[in-house]
Amino acid sequence: MNESIFDLTGQVAIVTGTSRGLGQYFARALAKAGADLVLTSRKRETLAPFEAEMKALGRRTLTLELDVRNHESIQKMAADAVAAFGQIHILVNNAGCNIRKPALDVTWDDWNTILDTNLRGSFFVAQAVARGMIEKGYGRIINIGSVTSVAGYAGLAPYGASRGGIRQLTMSLADDWGKFGVTVNCLAPGWFRTEQNKVLYENKEWLDYLVDRIPVKRPGQPHDLDGAVVFLASEASRYVTGQTLLVDGGISTGATRATVPAKSA
Ligand SMILES: NC(=O)c1ccc[n+]([C@@H]2O[C@H](COP(=O)([O-])OP(=O)(O)OC[C@H]3O[C@@H](n4cnc5c(N)ncnc54)[C@H](OP(=O)(O)O)[C@@H]3O)[C@@H](O)[C@H]2O)c1
Repeated sequence: MNESIFDLTGQVAIVTGTSRGLGQYFARALAKAGADLVLTSRKRETLAPFEAEMKALGRRTLTLELDVRNHESIQKMAADAVAAFGQIHILVNNAGCNIRKPALDVTWDDWNTILDTNLRGSFFVAQAVARGMIEKGYGRIINIGSVTSVAGYAGLAPYGASRGGIRQLTMSLADDWGKFGVTVNCLAPGWFRTEQNKVLYENKEWLDYLVDRIPVKRPGQPHDLDGAVVFLASEASRYVTGQTLLVDGGISTGATRATVPAKSA
């Protein structure tokens, strides 16, 4: 038995949206810290290769179908997870989407897709999973936000609204559920290359501009999120709730936005 306050041995984590991208980074970090995993996708069969990788680490796994835009699907996922494992200790509310467009081109349907998935979906997944956590008197909920939870970006109006909402939702749920032993925090990644944004990274001019704005001078790499997710999932963060932890190489500081001339005139 590892006595570390970061040890997750014997704990069960649901990570939503684990068919690709950051969801897999989060799940892998939790599994390496000892957690067993519930993995989800709208297409369950797409989870097979990642599930095999997690099993090879010696973890128990369960794959479930989940569409966070469908209330019944959310409730079924939460019930099936509890039926299989008895108790869920950790939820990483990661499933999400984005549509990048100038604000004037955003349609009614674009708005609904983004807000329904990222904000309404995260709330109802948290609600469904928190019921069991509250019964057991223990839970760690980690809502995935973004640097857009705290800063505005052109072309990301509905997405930023959904992520700002996640930050606010995190504070409200923390206040609601703290007395039941459930902490709720927001992990807000900066810029990480995934399926969701890979076209941006293929544009060298954009990438140079991005890197110039990041104080540590590089985009995020998969393992950059490991420490934050394990911290928020573990005993180490027991007195931390309602907070937003930015893991963004410092871009949210805005420090590199202005071009400062070498010598002032
Ligand atoms: N990449 C970044 O730089 C970055 C930065 C900050 C925050 N984020 C956020 O982090 C999360 C993961 O991002 P990512 O870049 O890894 O995105 P991604 O590669 O597009 O993956 C998104 C995941 O969400 C799932 N998903 C999408 N719509 C869903 C729905 N209606 N119901 C259930 N699952 C759904 C997808 O699963 P299926 O398609 O298999 O169902 C997929 O596994 C998102 O919430 C994103 O907004 C990303």
